[in-house]
This record gives sequence, structure tokens and C-alpha cells, in this order.
Amino acid sequence: MPKITSSTTVSPNYVHMPWPSIPDEMRGRLVEYTKNTPIIGDGVAGGRLIEGIPVYGIVRPPKYLTKWVEENIPLKDHFLGIQRFYGMEDVRIHIDSIREYCFNCLLTDTGPVTSFYDNNKKIVESVTYQQNEWYRHETKRYHGVTGIPEPYRISITMFKVDLQQTGALRSEGKAFVQAVSVFPPKK
Ligand SMILES: [Fe+2]
Repeated sequence: MPKITSSTTVSPNYVHMPWPSIPDEMRGRLVEYTKNTPIIGDGVAGGRLIEGIPVYGIVRPPKYLTKWVEENIPLKDHFLGIQRFYGMEDVRIHIDSIREYCFNCLLTDTGPVTSFYDNNKKIVESVTYQQNEWYRHETKRYHGVTGIPEPYRISITMFKVDLQQTGALRSEGKAFVQAVSVFPPKK
């Protein structure tokens, strides 16, 4: 088992942010909303499907979340969405294509372990992101997730699109990139 790093340790890979948690009632509502809302790009940008459901995607935030974030999170000019993984026990090691970093707040249960790797894919650090806490997560370092117990893993995500990187995306990804490049999001 990888060593679990305490969130108070200074890490080059993630930072635990001192931001407010989502109120409990809203958290449950957001989970249901995210399960039942089509992802941006309509599944094409998410790649593989399981039982007709994209294994990865981002949905637009409902208005009540946008309002809550504006009032409670001290971060401007970042895309706000909710990302979801479906049907995967693990998220394989990867580097994100369109962003340097993101701020995430996990809405589903604490449990899965996020690990970071060096360029030789050797594990360097692991962390269990706590439910309903905010973290800055570095996405240009190799990372992956293990031990996802439920079909869905859902988190609020805020980021800026790295336009230098988007040229590498396949054409199917364009709708997705276009959608998440616009801030504030188109209504
Ligand atoms: Fe990632």
C-alpha cells in the first residue's frame, strides 16, 4: 500500500485549501444532478462508454452552485464545472491534457487514493482527498486514482484551460475544449 501523506504536509503535488465545504443538503443534490445531466461534449470528448455512460466527463454547474461559489470561494476567472468518473475502480496513470492544475472538491465518499508519479512512473506520493474539502491538484504531474468503491466519483472542479496544450487533442475533443474555455460559461 502506498504511504498516505497527511494533508498538513507541504507537498509539490497538492494543497489543502482553507475554503468552506459545500452545505450537506446541496452536496447530495449536486451528486444526483451530476448523475442525471449530460456531460459537455455529449460523451464524445469523454471517450469510452460503459453501459452507454461516458467513463469521464464534466457537466455544467447548476445556477445555485455558481452562486454559492461566487459567494464563498475566493477564486476568479476559472471555469467551474462538476466532473464525474463512471464505472472505473481505478483511473490509470495520466497527465491532464488541457489544464496545468485544478481546484477540486470531492462530493462522493472519502476513500479512493490519489497517487503521483515521477516521469519514470515511479510512485512518489499518495493522498486520500477528503470528501467535501478543497484541494489544489497539480495535473501536469503523472497521477492516478485507485480503489474507487462506488460506480460514480464526482467532484466540483475549477480550472483554466491550457490553450498551449489543446492543439494536441483529437477533433472530437473540440466541443469540450470550446465549452470549458469560455469564462463565464455561455448560458
Ligand atoms: Fe487527471
